[in-house]
Formats: sequence, C-alpha cells, structure tokens
Amino acid sequence: MKYQTKTKIKMENQITIPRIGDTAPDFKAMTTTGPMQFSDHIKGSWTILFSHPADFTPVCTTEMTGFALDQKYFDEKNTKLVGLSIDSIHSHIAWVNNVKKNTGVLFEFPIIADIDMNVSKLYGMLQPGESETAAVRAVFFIDPKGKIRLIMYYPLNVGRNMDEIKRSLVALQTADQYKVSLPLNWREGDKVIVSPPKTVAEMLEREASDYEMVDFYLAKRDL
Ligand code: BEZ
Repeated sequence: MKYQTKTKIKMENQITIPRIGDTAPDFKAMTTTGPMQFSDHIKGSWTILFSHPADFTPVCTTEMTGFALDQKYFDEKNTKLVGLSIDSIHSHIAWVNNVKKNTGVLFEFPIIADIDMNVSKLYGMLQPGESETAAVRAVFFIDPKGKIRLIMYYPLNVGRNMDEIKRSLVALQTADQYKVSLPLNWREGDKVIVSPPKTVAEMLEREASDYEMVDFYLAKRDL
C-alpha cells in the first residue's frame, strides 16, 4: 500500500513533453487577441509557440519586446507568434498596456492566459524542478502541417537569443525547401550540405561535381 502511494505520487509528478516530429497538441485557450483553437490558428503557416514565466518581470519584458520588434520579420517568413504564461487575461492586458506606455512597443501577437496551466502541462513548460507555478522559457517551432520541428527550453533566469530563434526558423524552412541539411553555425547565404550518395554511381558522380567536398559523404553546395 505504502509502495503504491509513492508510485502514484511519482507518476503524478511526471511531465509530458511533446517530441520533435509529434503533431502539436491541440487546445482551446483565451488569449489577448480573443479565444483560440490552436489547431485552427496555426493551420497553413509556421508557428512559434513560446512561454515565459510571468507578466511584469524584467527578463520576460525584454524577450516579449524582442518578439514584438521582429513581428514584421516573422510575418514575412509566414510565421505566427503565440506567447503564453500562467497569468490571467487581465494581467496580460495590463502588462501589454504598461510596456506600450513605457516603450511604445505593442505586443500584437496573441498571449495565452494559461491560468489553469492546461497548455503549460500539455507542452512540458511546467518543470517542477525549476518552478511549480511558472512556465519555463520554452520555444516550439511548428511547421505548416502542424508538426513540431524544433524545441528549445531555457530556465527562468536566462533569456533566449532572438538571433538563434530566427536562424533556427530560416534553417528549418531552408532544409524543407531545398531538401538539404545545414552544418554547424549555418547562417542564411552559407553553403548547405547535400545528402550523402546512396549508390556507388552517385558517389562517382559526386566526385566529378563542383561541390565543396571533404569526402564523398560530406559535400556542400551553394543554394
Ligand atoms: C524575469 O523575467 O525577469 C524572471 C521571471 C521569473 C524568474 C526570474 C526572472
């Protein structure tokens, strides 16, 4: 009996984390732009779903402002931004208003009011070792087919890197469009990696190509 109780507590404390390649879990939520059915909202575009620990906190304010300042960039990349924290809709609205008044920057993207922690739990954003009540800084990149393609998790006290978020998005879109892979530190405009040959004939063909080649299995080309 004692053993069963302990086991149950352990099971309840386990968090679910969606994985790369999974369909993004669907949910209904209230946001700063109105009610949202997530699967409908994200249909046909890339989506970056990101959580922050709390409204009216300094690191979060810098991050949300960073996303807002790059809104046009994400629009041009056919990418929707969706923020989230475990705060009420009233708190979100007051914070949006506060930042607008202080800096002139308006958070136009929806921010989920996840006061019941439903979405945070669904996406493994609530990590009890870090906080029982605040979402960690998670970033989910979701493709137009609704599949999770890249995940980042940061702790409460370390802000994310907007350059890396933008680089990751462009890398995913480039890899899909050209069916290539991207090497270490790849940036837009750099050479890309072509898939290794699958036959001896393809290998010989590759040797005669103008690819930049370390060996037959590691070859790069311009886009
Ligand atoms: C912040 O955004 O500044 C913050 C939020 C929660 C814990 C630590 C820092």
